[in-house]
Amino acid sequence: MTRFFAAVLLSALLACAGAGTISGGRAPQQSGSGRPTFYRDVLPILQTHCQACHRDGGIAPIPFETYERVARKAGAIADAVTSGKMPPWFADRNIGKFANDPSLSDQEISTLADWSDADAPAGDPHDAPPPRAWAGGWNIPEPEDVVKMPGPVSIPAQGEIEYTYEIIPTGFKADKWVQMSQVRPSSPQYVHHAVVYIRPPDSKWLRGAPVGVPFTASTLKSKKDKHDANWTDSDVLLVYAPGSSPDSWPATMAKFIPAGSDLVFQIHYTTNGRAGSDQSSIGLIFAKSPPPQRVLTLQLTNDSFAIPPGADDYRVEVHGSLPNDATLLSFFPHMHLRGKRFEYNIAHKDGGVETLLRVNYHFHWQMSYRLADPRPLKAGTVLQAVAWFDNSTKNEHNPDPNRTVRWGDQTTDEMMVGFFDVAVPANIDKTQFFIRPNAMHDHTH
Ligand code: HEC
Repeated sequence: MTRFFAAVLLSALLACAGAGTISGGRAPQQSGSGRPTFYRDVLPILQTHCQACHRDGGIAPIPFETYERVARKAGAIADAVTSGKMPPWFADRNIGKFANDPSLSDQEISTLADWSDADAPAGDPHDAPPPRAWAGGWNIPEPEDVVKMPGPVSIPAQGEIEYTYEIIPTGFKADKWVQMSQVRPSSPQYVHHAVVYIRPPDSKWLRGAPVGVPFTASTLKSKKDKHDANWTDSDVLLVYAPGSSPDSWPATMAKFIPAGSDLVFQIHYTTNGRAGSDQSSIGLIFAKSPPPQRVLTLQLTNDSFAIPPGADDYRVEVHGSLPNDATLLSFFPHMHLRGKRFEYNIAHKDGGVETLLRVNYHFHWQMSYRLADPRPLKAGTVLQAVAWFDNSTKNEHNPDPNRTVRWGDQTTDEMMVGFFDVAVPANIDKTQFFIRPNAMHDHTH
């Protein structure tokens, strides 16, 4: 079955923060003075490539900010970067170029390895670059507005948890264009994913559901609301998953939140043996003036597969054609514990297949991949997503290799979703984007 409908995605740039390549640090100056030092050569690399996660209050275990903390980990850092384990990045390097690729150059890798080999010399603190400014726990600059769940959601110690929803009114009196945004769980260790949807005032989505309190689909009274909880064509403001970075759009485009909209959080909490709570929020920075283009999040989804027990490379495909011209911006593949590989392709008319992204999937790291060169596509272009699953014992994350696995919410079930972001003219919303010019002709005549 093929679907190509509007819904989610996040994507994330890291122009000014996040795990991306950010200029600002000084280039390592190894030549001339021999061995690298912490302040002159190592710290700039850590600021640019590691501190988005490795800083006080960041998602990684050890902050890489002071000489004392970093020097103790010099060996582990050298191992992590020479093995390619850090910074985390899962795209096949031979395919495509991505603006948020945080990978180190060969020279940066040898700087860190040489520094460790030389017993991690400090060097002269006067050589240090200015510290990178982080706005509290944010990887974007200080947000202009923060929409936060009104109260904490309790998470039990054990068991599977149904998706948690919470509808939060924005109170926006005027239309808003969102230039940057970041989802921040207060307890990221429980959050497998969070999707923040935009519910405009005229949307009929989940109107029977409570506002300002957490709920799950099974507690809703109406059959329609129960069903709708899982399928919406509301646009997505942002998707969060471990390792994902904030959204930050170029000045010519932004996400649109109509006046009077609600934000709807959908959070998949997972248990870890200890009970706790989470109160997630989203930080927003608005465009200075309305941009010429609007960003929409779309998805290619196949929800009708059955992965046989023990299959170690099971292929699931879906394709769809673009209803109108659009500029392709970024990708966010989503699978669960049996995910192995994910590809986005353009299927050309002559039968050729052009691969835009191939991800060697890792369940613990769900990331967005933002094209370094956004790709203008014509209406009718066929986009294809292909996923491979490993349901064998070779997959260390596989909870049960003896089961036929189908679509489902829980991580022990599977999903096959290829989210992607496109830019379209600012006056086009998701519904309008899906009206095919031919269909319109048919209706009017
Ligand atoms: C997107 C977030 C992110 C970025 C960027 C990142 N890390 Fe990490 N790093 C983590 C997380 C989370 C862990 C702990 C979980 C794990 O090991 O997978 C970790 C673990 C590590 C460890 C293992 C710590 C130990 O227990 O010894 C090292 C070393 C490390 N990172 C080095 C780096 C270096 C060096 C960079 C930059 C070149 C970097 N990381 C960039 C998130 C990140």
